[in-house]
Amino acid sequence: MTQQRQVVIEQRIDKSACSGSPGSSLGDVLSELLEGDLDFAQDSDSAGIHNLHAFPAKYPPALPRLFVQHLTQPGEVVLDPMVGSGTTVLEAVQRGRQGIGSDIDPLALLLSQVKTNPPDPAWAFQSGLSVCNRAYHALERDRASVCREIQKRFDNRTRQFLDYWFTQETQQELMALLLQIEAEPNPAVRQFLRLCFSGIIVTKSGGVSLAMDLAHTRPHKVAEKVPRSAIEEFARRLRKNVVSIEQTGRRAGRAAILCADARSLPLRDNSVHLIVTSPPYAANAIDYMRAHKFSLVWFGYPVDALSLRRKEYVGHEVAPYGNSVSLPKPVQQVVDVVGKLDARKAKALEGYYQDMMHVMREAYRVLQPGRCAVFVVASSRLKGIDTRADLCLGEVAQAVGFHVAGMGTRRIHRDRRMMPASRHAGNGSTIEQRMHQEYVIGLIK
Ligand SMILES: C[S@@+](CC[C@H](N)C(=O)[O-])C[C@H]1O[C@@H](n2cnc3c(N)ncnc32)[C@H](O)[C@@H]1O
Repeated sequence: MTQQRQVVIEQRIDKSACSGSPGSSLGDVLSELLEGDLDFAQDSDSAGIHNLHAFPAKYPPALPRLFVQHLTQPGEVVLDPMVGSGTTVLEAVQRGRQGIGSDIDPLALLLSQVKTNPPDPAWAFQSGLSVCNRAYHALERDRASVCREIQKRFDNRTRQFLDYWFTQETQQELMALLLQIEAEPNPAVRQFLRLCFSGIIVTKSGGVSLAMDLAHTRPHKVAEKVPRSAIEEFARRLRKNVVSIEQTGRRAGRAAILCADARSLPLRDNSVHLIVTSPPYAANAIDYMRAHKFSLVWFGYPVDALSLRRKEYVGHEVAPYGNSVSLPKPVQQVVDVVGKLDARKAKALEGYYQDMMHVMREAYRVLQPGRCAVFVVASSRLKGIDTRADLCLGEVAQAVGFHVAGMGTRRIHRDRRMMPASRHAGNGSTIEQRMHQEYVIGLIK
């Protein structure tokens, strides 16, 4: 974007905020932003606090930042109803806005909470080192009581899961760490240490578990993998994460992270000034729980409870949320085309768009009139058909009352993100190109 266009945009937002009728001006600003470069290929902020923990399909911080800066004023409320790793909320609070994030994934909630309300780094570091020392001593002095704790804590199914995916030695080190983390009295430090703990398990390579490829496919066990010491890995991760929070700028606004379903938000009508979010891909292309349960079981979530939670994710293949709603005609047509090839996949796609009708309806309800919502989505390919999530979600948005101000595209940098692998990568087709693209849908209430 040229400097001249930038100035025009800034003048427009100033004018609209002062005049109290932001509607049309903000729409123009949004359309113009969507025509600019949304790739952020040079975004250097992907390191640091935004990388405290791996998370699939997060967007570059510069993306929400662009919309926060140009579409809101300091003090206004920015919402991400599917907050994931907390990118939007952190960018909002660093710019003096009030950030609200909601999610139903316990790991997303932990990560967003720590990112937006981090502990004092010096205190966190000392505390983490002490956790490592005490964990070593506990294993040296009384390994048997650590083993008893493992026997006591988990139900049978969860124990089987742990025995399958973690060596006995790793289980003992993890439990020794966990017992010491739980003894930390400061809640912010304790959450931070839990995140460091999770970060040594949920990684692309499966961390200290026996799993490989937690990001790309179904995790598979590599029995000959020799996991590193969990305590040493924890100490390494602690150092890295402490540096990350030390380097992060001041948070001038306040953040609230809520455990809430995007289809039913505990927020008042017309209470939000901007929404920037990225929903899961159509028909469950990324199974968040598959990877996250490797650390969540350690925090006391039984595997069966996590399987139940999984059904609440938008686009889960089994249960659409609440009453089914009829889809806009063009969306139903896409579902029908898929249905001719695969009835089960069509049902899943239909469920996804029904879920997204509920998400969009809630977004519309909580947003102030005249304000903007930005949805970042990628298309999914089912049975070789590009389901054109961009066009379908545009239709869904209009059906609940939004006006589509514009649609931008951006390239996905697969090597920088935990994404599902494409079986057709590199075939150069138009569909394949679209799979490497995301759409940025700009909406106005
Ligand atoms: C693509 S990720 C968001 C990534 C985020 N933009 C970031 O930068 O980290 C989608 C998120 O939607 C969340 N989600 C799925 N179903 C949900 C629901 N019913 N309510 C709220 N969040 C949900 C998932 O847990 C996941 O964290």
